[in-house]
Amino acid sequence: GLKIATIGGGSSYTPELVEGFIKRYDELPITELWLVDIEAGKEKLEIVGNLAKRMIKKAGLPINVHLTLNRRAALKDADFVTTQFRVGLLDARAKDERIPLKYGVLGQETNGPGGLFKGLRTIPVILDICREMEELCPNAWLINFTNPAGMVTEAVLRYSNIKKVVGLCNVPIGMEMGVARLLDVDHSRVRITFAGLNHMVFGLDIFLDGVSVKDKVIDLITNPDNAITVKNVPALEWEPEFLKALNALPCSYHHYYYKTSDMVEKELKNAKEQGTRAEVVKKLEAELFELYKDPNLDVKPPQLEKRGGAYYSDAAVRLIHSIYTDKKDIQPVNTMNNGAIAGIPADSAVEVSCIITKEGPKPIVIGELPVAVQGLVGQIKSFERVAAEAAVTGDYNTAMLAMTINPLVANDRVGKLILDEMLEAHKEHLPQF
Ligand code: NAD
Ligand code: G6P
Ligand code: MN
Repeated sequence: GLKIATIGGGSSYTPELVEGFIKRYDELPITELWLVDIEAGKEKLEIVGNLAKRMIKKAGLPINVHLTLNRRAALKDADFVTTQFRVGLLDARAKDERIPLKYGVLGQETNGPGGLFKGLRTIPVILDICREMEELCPNAWLINFTNPAGMVTEAVLRYSNIKKVVGLCNVPIGMEMGVARLLDVDHSRVRITFAGLNHMVFGLDIFLDGVSVKDKVIDLITNPDNAITVKNVPALEWEPEFLKALNALPCSYHHYYYKTSDMVEKELKNAKEQGTRAEVVKKLEAELFELYKDPNLDVKPPQLEKRGGAYYSDAAVRLIHSIYTDKKDIQPVNTMNNGAIAGIPADSAVEVSCIITKEGPKPIVIGELPVAVQGLVGQIKSFERVAAEAAVTGDYNTAMLAMTINPLVANDRVGKLILDEMLEAHKEHLPQF
């Protein structure tokens, strides 16, 4: 049977993943599921791990669940390593969100200065995991969900020896589900050609039963009631003329780039009235873990849908399943570009529709992106590369460069103020600086 090691196993998303494994057990015979966490996450690991055990028992499946703080034991001979950890926990996320806002700059966990700092904290840890994988499970696939997923995948491709890595986000699958809902059809009939970067991905064409319905869908989403969103990004209205001229399906995160001042204003208002997203999520998480503690609960509770990562299990489990069975179906993932998208380095990570084989994802050849978005996508890729370099070297000036070239900062003086304050606030989790 297969062995899965999940790093950050104490995450409230774990029941999602377990539900996915249960659903696909017939084709994906997992016998060992190792949930790993750190001392600070021990209590969460215990609670969510016991729920996982009850879910599996209820399903009557022979999957052994191990709860451990010993990452090496978990990695030993694993077939798939999935990562869903948060260095510094939600307190660090709250700082990523609050500090930039003080300077009138967006505070968000994967975009702007917050995304930079989440990367600076996360990349050294993922590279440690990669080194351990080389030693303990050299044939395993690394399926990374840890944000910023695009930058993290870039760092693994450039700075580790692990080649079998796939970065995963729930946004593209959520866009497909959203389109299926708008068209009132089953998800299996809808396929979107995705291209771009993580949280910077576009639906370049949209098919229903193989026939393009892009114009119809774009027309539909010009109506704000039909917005396709994730729970963590405020969905402000698009100008219909912009959407029509763009002629592609944007993702939720594009609001931060094409409505920057409105989004900063909205986040400031939210921060004041209800707390930043991390502060809201803290409460949601506490509620979820109260539910998870109930010894009679043996399914994933619907309250988990209040989190932004909806469909995570579908995305992760169908990916693992297609690699394992060499299914050759099409799924959007983060992988090495290899020439699929023109203008992006061949050895950089992109988020793109891929054929999923036992050798991994094979990107569909996209060619040039629409001229209107080439610049922004290229700029975000430059940012991710410089940020990854800063994370690896711990070089202050490189971090300063990453901060300043981010389109949501774009002022070196303000960037430096934010950089200095965030370096100080996060120093416990930035040993490289
Ligand atoms: P969380 O705060 O619950 O953290 C998950 C677990 O990671 C915690 O139990 C924590 O103790 C543990 N952890 C922290 N540092 C660790 C380390 N060094 N090694 C092992 N475990 C460690 O976070 P969450 O809300 O469940 O999110 C988990 C991760 O998934 C985050 O990085 C988040 O940004 C990401 N995420 C990604 C997507 C996506 O689309 N790719 C969607 C949602 C969440
Ligand atoms: C989104 C994204 C993730 C993001 C998360 C936040 O949909 O795809 O990458 O970080 O969900 O969700 P949360 O509930 O933690 O705010
Ligand atoms: Mn994501």
